Amino acid sequence: MVNIAIIGYGYWGPNLVRNFSSTPGASVKWVADLRAERLEIAKRNFPSIETTTELERVIQDPEVHAVVIATPVFTHFELGMKALLAGKHVLIEKPMTDSVAHAEQLIASAKERGLTLMVDHTFLYTAAVQKIKHLIDSGELGSVKYFDSTRINLGLIQQDVNVLWDLAPHDISILNYLMSSKPRSVQATGVSHIHNGIENIAYLTVNYDQDFIAHFHCSWSSPVKMRMMLLGGDKKMVVFNDMEPTDKIRVYDTAHTISNDEEKQRVLVDYRVGDIYIPKLPIQEALSGMAADFIQSIQTGKAPIASYESGLFTVKVLEAAQVSIKENGREVII
Ligand SMILES: NC(=O)c1ccc[n+]([C@@H]2O[C@H](COP(=O)([O-])OP(=O)(O)OC[C@H]3O[C@@H](n4cnc5c(N)ncnc54)[C@H](O)[C@@H]3O)[C@@H](O)[C@H]2O)c1
Repeated sequence: MVNIAIIGYGYWGPNLVRNFSSTPGASVKWVADLRAERLEIAKRNFPSIETTTELERVIQDPEVHAVVIATPVFTHFELGMKALLAGKHVLIEKPMTDSVAHAEQLIASAKERGLTLMVDHTFLYTAAVQKIKHLIDSGELGSVKYFDSTRINLGLIQQDVNVLWDLAPHDISILNYLMSSKPRSVQATGVSHIHNGIENIAYLTVNYDQDFIAHFHCSWSSPVKMRMMLLGGDKKMVVFNDMEPTDKIRVYDTAHTISNDEEKQRVLVDYRVGDIYIPKLPIQEALSGMAADFIQSIQTGKAPIASYESGLFTVKVLEAAQVSIKENGREVII
């Protein structure tokens, strides 16, 4: 049995407590938060779990094997490092850290101690992303040419991170999971209407050496909520609309073919528009798959799907995007 302590019982923490409480091989021993009123709610919902505002008690408890960190981003590094130094396996909420340097230090520390370090990139465990991965790996889409994601709504404006750090980790981690090639550079632009330098609307392009491009649009200022991802292959294309309750994915038998008209010396482009199908997806809570993967990784030593590499990749793209935004969209090599 892997005994777990969960630090942070704000918005997301309760979901982690609920899922880990029903994960085979896991037992939630502690919930810690600096706010006593949050712990009262935790105690009411989960009477058998111990609660505390003293983090050291939790991190130093010899009966605790793993620490789950669901606090704001700027605390991830310090709490993660404390837990690793105390010999605990660590699961950190997305984004892994507030800088590449911090992510690399956590990874080095986990490697040195042979501990599991994982990031909660929840979307990798959704049935939709698993299905898209299968469509790409089986060759059904052909060679993937673009990834285009829109994640916008009237969002909760964060005080410490901009809209990309808040929303784009989901899409960047999905991009990294689906595509085996690594990007060359990023370019980003954004605007802060709050006048505190924290961008509430941002556009990010990730460039590759191959003829593949990825683009992300994130906003906290949209009157409509959109969670839409397009992937285009040279055989088929996929639309992933996460606002749909069930039919989240549509596969379009659509592509274009290019040929040369030697006589007129020009390139001809033909569109092929065929059938559309909606794959049946199993109903499963992504967080429960994520929690099970963390426990299995601790028990077997295997690398989890949401590995520290995916956490580091995401932070690298975000950090480069931040530089690019502040320099008016300059291309930043990563
Ligand atoms: N995976 C997902 O889909 C998903 C969804 C939402 C949030 N998140 C992530 O979860 C993390 C927390 O986000 P949230 O929305 O729950 O924030 P939140 O502000 O609602 O909750 C954070 C909690 O942490 C507590 N806290 C702060 N500093 C602490 C410390 N040093 N020690 C102990 N407790 C501390 C706060 O009192 C608060 O209760 C963030 O990294 C966020 O990006 C992930």
